[in-house]
Amino acid sequence: MSSSSPQAVRKPARGDLLELELTEIDERGRTLGRFEEFSVAVRAGVLGARARVRVLKRRRNGIEAVLVEEERPSPHAARARCPHVASCGGCSFQELDYRAQLAAKERLLARILAPLAPERIEPVLACDVPWKYRNKMDFTFGSARWIEPGEPAGAANGFALGLHARGNFQKVLDVHACEIAFPEAAALVAGVRRLALELDLPPWDVRTRAGLLRHLVLRKSWANGAILADLVTSEEARERIEPLAEALLARHPELTTLVQHVNPGVALVASGRLARVFHGTGVIEERLGGLAFAISATSFFQTNTPQAEKLVALVRAWADPRPGETVFDLYSGCGVFALSLAREIGPARVVGFELVESAVEDARANAARNGLEGVRFVAGDLALTLAPEQLGLRQMTRPDVCVVDPPRAGLHARVLDSLRLLEPRRIVYVSCNARSAVQDLSYLAADGWRLQRVQPIDLFPHTPHLECVFRLERASASAGSDYGSEATLEDSTSSASGPR
Ligand SMILES: C[S@@+](CC[C@H](N)C(=O)[O-])C[C@H]1O[C@@H](n2cnc3c(N)ncnc32)[C@H](O)[C@@H]1O
Repeated sequence: MSSSSPQAVRKPARGDLLELELTEIDERGRTLGRFEEFSVAVRAGVLGARARVRVLKRRRNGIEAVLVEEERPSPHAARARCPHVASCGGCSFQELDYRAQLAAKERLLARILAPLAPERIEPVLACDVPWKYRNKMDFTFGSARWIEPGEPAGAANGFALGLHARGNFQKVLDVHACEIAFPEAAALVAGVRRLALELDLPPWDVRTRAGLLRHLVLRKSWANGAILADLVTSEEARERIEPLAEALLARHPELTTLVQHVNPGVALVASGRLARVFHGTGVIEERLGGLAFAISATSFFQTNTPQAEKLVALVRAWADPRPGETVFDLYSGCGVFALSLAREIGPARVVGFELVESAVEDARANAARNGLEGVRFVAGDLALTLAPEQLGLRQMTRPDVCVVDPPRAGLHARVLDSLRLLEPRRIVYVSCNARSAVQDLSYLAADGWRLQRVQPIDLFPHTPHLECVFRLERASASAGSDYGSEATLEDSTSSASGPR
C-alpha cells in the first residue's frame, strides 16, 4: 500500500504492507513514520530510511508495524558492531550513526517536554566513548532459548544465559558478545554458561517458576578494574552453587569478588537476600566526583561512570548549596549526590533518603570513607519516611534544596505532597524517564516552582533512554524554619532503620 493509493484513507489492517519514510524514534526503541494521517511505530528500521513495513496491530492512537525491507537506506546508517543486533532487546539504535541518535533523542525529548513549555533545552551532553560503557550488566538465565535465524533445526533450546530477545520477554538470547557492556563481560557470561551446563544446574523457568539459576549480575570498577559477579538463585542450594562458584573463580581470576543472592519470589529482579560472599569483599570500589564509593551488588550506581561524572558536576552546580543551607537527597542510592553536596556545605547539612537497605549501608560506609560521617541517611520507602503526616512531627530544618532522582515511575504522590509542604527553594530533578518527569514537574509548576533549566545527558548510547536534569526554583520559599518540636527526625525514623 503506497500513501498515494486511493484506498489509503482507510486505516491499514493487520498484515497490510505500507511504504513510508522513517522520520523519528520513540522511547520504546522503535522508529516512527506516517502513513496518510496515521502514525506508524516500526519495530526495527533505521531512522532516515524509506521502508516497507507490515502492520502488526492497529491501536487507537496509531499503528504498530515491523520492518520488511528498506527501499532506500538511511543516510545516517552505521555498521552494526554486535552480532545480536537483530535479535537483542538491548541496543535498538546501533545501526544509526551516534550523532543522528543524539539529534533524534533531542527531538524526542522536546516532544515529550512540550506540555512544560521549557524556554530552552540544552543540547544533549554526548558520551565521549559510546561503546563498552556500561559498568554493570544484569544477565538472565532462561529455560526458553531464543533461536537465532540460521541455526540448525533441532538446536538445543532449554538453557540460555543472556538478555531478553527483542519483543519477546519469554525468551532469552544467549549473549556471546555485547558492545555496550564492559569488555570482560562477554567472556564471563560464556564462562558461567559453560559451567552451569557442565554442572547441570537448571535455569529459572518464568512459566512454571521452577529452576535454580535466575540472574548473573556483573559490575566493573572504572577506578581500579575490579570485577564483581553476583549469582542470583531461587534458593541457597549450597551443595549445587558451591562447585559453580569454585570453578568460576578458578577459571576467571579477573573476578575480584563473587557473591550469591537468593530471590525465591515471582518478581523477575536481580536482587534478594545476600546468601554468601564466596570471594573478596562483596563490594567494588569506584570513584565519582572526587569521592570514593564502595558499591555492593544490589545497590544502585550510575552505570556509565564517565557520563556520571558530568551528571554529578551538573547536580552540584545546579543545587548550588550555600553555607548554612540544608539539602535533602531523595532516592539517594549509595550516596553519590548527598556526599558530593556534603563536601560543599558540610555533612551536618545533608540528609539522604533511600529504600534499599544495602544501598543505605553502602551510603553510610561511603560517608565514613570520605570523612563525611555527619551525613544522615534515612532508610525506607520515601512515601513513608517523608510522608506529609510525618513532617509535622519532626523537628528538622526545612531543606533549602532537594535533589530528587526517582526510579522510572517518577515521584510517589505522597512525595510530591511532601515537597509541597517542605517548600525547598530549589529542586534539582534527575530523571531517567521524561514522561513521568513531565507529570511530576507539571504538578510542581502548578504549585509555584518555575522550570529554569533542562539538561539532557546521554548515559545510554544506542538505546532509547536519555537522562535529563531539571532545575526548578521557587520564588517565595520561607526556608530555614523548623517543623514542630515534639520529635526529632531521628525519633520518627528510629524504629526499624532510622538515620545514623
Ligand atoms: C535512579 S536511582 C538514583 C540513585 C542515586 N541518586 C544515584 O545517582 O546513585 C533511584 C534510587 O531510588 C531508590 N528507590 C526506589 N524506590 C524508592 C522509594 N519508594 N523510596 C526510597 N527510595 C527508593 C532505588 O533503590 C535507587 O537507589
